[in-house]
Amino acid sequence: MAVLKKFRPRWWLSSRQAPTHTIQPNIALVPPVNARYDLRPLTVAQLDECWHLDQRCFVDGEAYSRDTFEYLLTAPESISYRVVMQNSAMAGFVIGLMEPDHTGHITTVGIAPEHRRRRLASCLIKRVEDAFRRRDVRLARLEVRSTNISAQKLYMSLGYSVTQRLPKYYSNGGDGLLMVKAI
Ligand SMILES: CC(C)(COP(=O)(O)OP(=O)(O)OC[C@H]1O[C@@H](n2cnc3c(N)ncnc32)[C@H](O)[C@@H]1OP(=O)(O)O)[C@@H](O)C(=O)NCCC(=O)NCCS
Repeated sequence: MAVLKKFRPRWWLSSRQAPTHTIQPNIALVPPVNARYDLRPLTVAQLDECWHLDQRCFVDGEAYSRDTFEYLLTAPESISYRVVMQNSAMAGFVIGLMEPDHTGHITTVGIAPEHRRRRLASCLIKRVEDAFRRRDVRLARLEVRSTNISAQKLYMSLGYSVTQRLPKYYSNGGDGLLMVKAI
């Protein structure tokens, strides 16, 4: 999860932006193991659904603001996908950015708690990497909180390696790790 410094930090939500819905506690029913998912592009048409899902994924107060999502889903350099259930409800998302230094930057990935460990994040990240490759990007990078072991295991399983520690990268003073992969 990247901290996007040119926007509001993830932990900041103004009263104007505070969600009007009630954030659902993580008690959603776990779908059957053979549930079917589709992978589709993620666009600004899904802005609110994605923003709400992000708040369920990042319960440590690090959710992106709605403005940040609006930027990410409209920027021409953005490459974004979602996984949906058969009723089209979003189960997960990934957002990548083509950076000026010609690297592919995976800024965030989130899977609803009830859909985890089904290889959905793996599929989403592989799809973004394919899109990077089609644009002649040969290096993908991302940042992950040093304490987020599950995400680090996911990235390592996909071939990413830690190349740098980023002291106090996160707004609460937590360190980040820079992970990269030749694609
Ligand atoms: C991290 C996250 C995206 C993983 O999504 P997911 O769809 O469950 O991941 P996958 O099913 O593709 O996992 C692939 C592999 O990653 C590793 N992994 C994923 N979650 C793990 C966990 N909780 N514990 C240990 N290993 C884990 C495993 O090796 C797994 O393979 P396996 O299930 O065969 O053992 C999801 O837990 C999430 O949304 N977390 C909250 C948001 C977040 O931290 N995002 C990343 C910010 S940098």
